[in-house]
Amino acid sequence: MSSRHRSPSVSVLATSAATAAKAAKAALAAVAAVAALSALPALPALAQPTPAAAPTAPPTMLERGRLEFESNCATCHGMGARGDGPMRPFLAREPADLTTIARRRGGSFPRSEIADLIDGRGMTEPGVHGTREMPIWGRVYREQSEAQTRGTPFPAEWSVRGRTLALAEYLQSLQRP
Ligand code: HEC
Repeated sequence: MSSRHRSPSVSVLATSAATAAKAAKAALAAVAAVAALSALPALPALAQPTPAAAPTAPPTMLERGRLEFESNCATCHGMGARGDGPMRPFLAREPADLTTIARRRGGSFPRSEIADLIDGRGMTEPGVHGTREMPIWGRVYREQSEAQTRGTPFPAEWSVRGRTLALAEYLQSLQRP
């Protein structure tokens, strides 16, 4: 009899524990989602408002470009972007020395055009240098960005453009006279 009386309250307890666990899980998921969104390099608008006393400032465009370069480009182009990355012996075409882009273009560095070149999706020919051995970064970034922005009102293309522009800005900072 008494166990009969007890069981409902036990199950109430169990239910509320389960509810609490669910709520905690949902909160964690929300935190993870926000973290994933603020990791989007090209969407500063998505970054959470930074409290005044935040210990770290969000990375600048230049800094994002550097990180992006070191993780996705240095294998072929080299850490210093001089075309001497560890993959070089395995490529049919020499990875360009990216510190001489301006020199080879009469001293100008058209940032938007270079971003398009890195993007690669707009290329009508296999590549400006013949067969394009460079990955089509626009496609790679677009796929990643679609996964990140799914279910949000943010267009996937923002992040793609932001990443290629950040790369172009970083490359511009490396130009040698
Ligand atoms: C798999 C090797 C490889 C990787 C990784 C790679 N590249 Fe390249 N890249 C090349 C090769 C080879 C060329 C020159 C020939 C060509 O265009 O196919 C080139 C050419 C370029 C050019 C044109 C240079 C010029 O002088 O016109 C730019 C700009 C460039 N890469 C930027 C990048 C950036 C930025 C990344 C990283 C997001 C990157 N590359 C990653 C192999 C690579």
